[in-house]
Amino acid sequence: MPAFIVLLGPPGVGKGTQAKIIAAATGLPHVSSGDLFRENIKNETELGRLAQSYISKGELVPDDVTIGMIRDRISRPDCKSGALLDGFPRTTVQAAALENLLAEFGGKVDTVPYISASESTLVERLGGRWNCKAQGHVFHEKHNPPKQAGVCDFDGSELYQRDDDKAETVTRRIQVYFAQTAPLVAYYRERGRLSEIDGAQPIEKVTADLLAALKM
Ligand code: AP5
Ligand code: MG
Repeated sequence: MPAFIVLLGPPGVGKGTQAKIIAAATGLPHVSSGDLFRENIKNETELGRLAQSYISKGELVPDDVTIGMIRDRISRPDCKSGALLDGFPRTTVQAAALENLLAEFGGKVDTVPYISASESTLVERLGGRWNCKAQGHVFHEKHNPPKQAGVCDFDGSELYQRDDDKAETVTRRIQVYFAQTAPLVAYYRERGRLSEIDGAQPIEKVTADLLAALKM
């Protein structure tokens, strides 16, 4: 049965960083709702224009739009054995929609690693983050610097700082996380799927704990 892993955790805790490492190690596709929105913004699609109006303010994109986008993505053949979901679901409505979608495909939500760290750690990580333009590889100017400043180690593309990593937008994203996404911790705990991971540790240690939780 296709098994989907849901990476849960606040903005800046390291979901994207870990998803890239685990996807490379396991061959599971990395499905990031934020990356999908940013791709649409770059390609100036209608979905991208709508998403941008929410993302720039640190608000969530409406559930129906987000669910439709994820439905299209996980219907693709590369997800037939499962995927690593990063940033979705983010509301209880999305979590229920995911259960229905997966029931349709004959799949299920398997483990839900919940990665956490203090708010000051999140703010510090987002403030020093640099992303690659080509494939969204993630760096940090202090904790995970690229070999050459401004250039991606993996594909040589230019590094940039996300618009929504501005201090005031970060504050709002963290508030929105606590109001709308944090309830999913209890949702998945009650269903026996939650596995708690200490995201304040160094990247390699977080990866080791994740692989152990996922039994990979
Ligand atoms: P999204 O792109 O998902 O952003 P996010 O959840 O705010 O999370 P981030 O990508 O900011 O952080 P991350 O956990 O991936 O951390 P990272 O690995 O980069 O969403 C953006 C927006 O899109 C949302 O605000 C919303 O508007 C919209 N959206 C997306 N999904 C949606 C949904 N389902 N519904 C509605 N709207 C949605 O790491 C951060 C930094 O820390 C990096 O610099 C990294 O190098 C560093 N770092 C990572 N791990 C460590 C470590 N262990 N030690 C030291 N440094 C570390
Ligand atoms: Mg991310």
